[in-house]
Amino acid sequence: MDRGAGRAGAVDAAAEVLAVARERTASADVSAGVEFVQADVLAWRPRRRYDTVFFAFWLSHVPPARLPDFWSTVAAALAPGGRAVFVDDGPATAAAEEVLAEGAVPAALRRLGDGSRYRVVKVFHDAQALTEDLAALGWSVRVRPVAGKVVGIAEPPAAPA
Ligand SMILES: C[S@@+](CC[C@H](N)C(=O)[O-])C[C@H]1O[C@@H](n2cnc3c(N)ncnc32)[C@H](O)[C@@H]1O
Repeated sequence: MDRGAGRAGAVDAAAEVLAVARERTASADVSAGVEFVQADVLAWRPRRRYDTVFFAFWLSHVPPARLPDFWSTVAAALAPGGRAVFVDDGPATAAAEEVLAEGAVPAALRRLGDGSRYRVVKVFHDAQALTEDLAALGWSVRVRPVAGKVVGIAEPPAAPA
């Protein structure tokens, strides 16, 4: 396996999360091949392209109005023939959350151990609706429900000639 620098990239807005990822990849002896980037992924543009873009439990936190731009960032990060692969909470998991009814953007309440409370964007994507939304943006996509989650694999629209 080629473990050269920059074979993989990892983006997160939080330095603490990147530090954990660095530590875990170091212990797995692959960190030299990973470029860690601290950035707001909703404003970030990739500097290179990858065969696969993977995100877990992230899509549900993207405000619906920003999904088209997010998917265009994912497309920009994919090399020709590349695919996005993702997993997230499906509608069945909403029962385990404190879903907030008010507000223009779907949200849930999260409580931390210190008693503080945070309102987070949380969209429980339905596999069928997500498939249709992505197809409307020109993606070829398969999304299926698996044990309460949604799991998807998607190919971006062909780049204009
Ligand atoms: C629910 S966690 C998922 C973490 C990980 N993928 C997992 O499965 O355990 C969401 C992650 O998104 C990060 N995040 C939140 N807003 C972000 C943003 N605007 N840009 C990049 N990362 C962001 C958080 O720091 C957090 O690490």
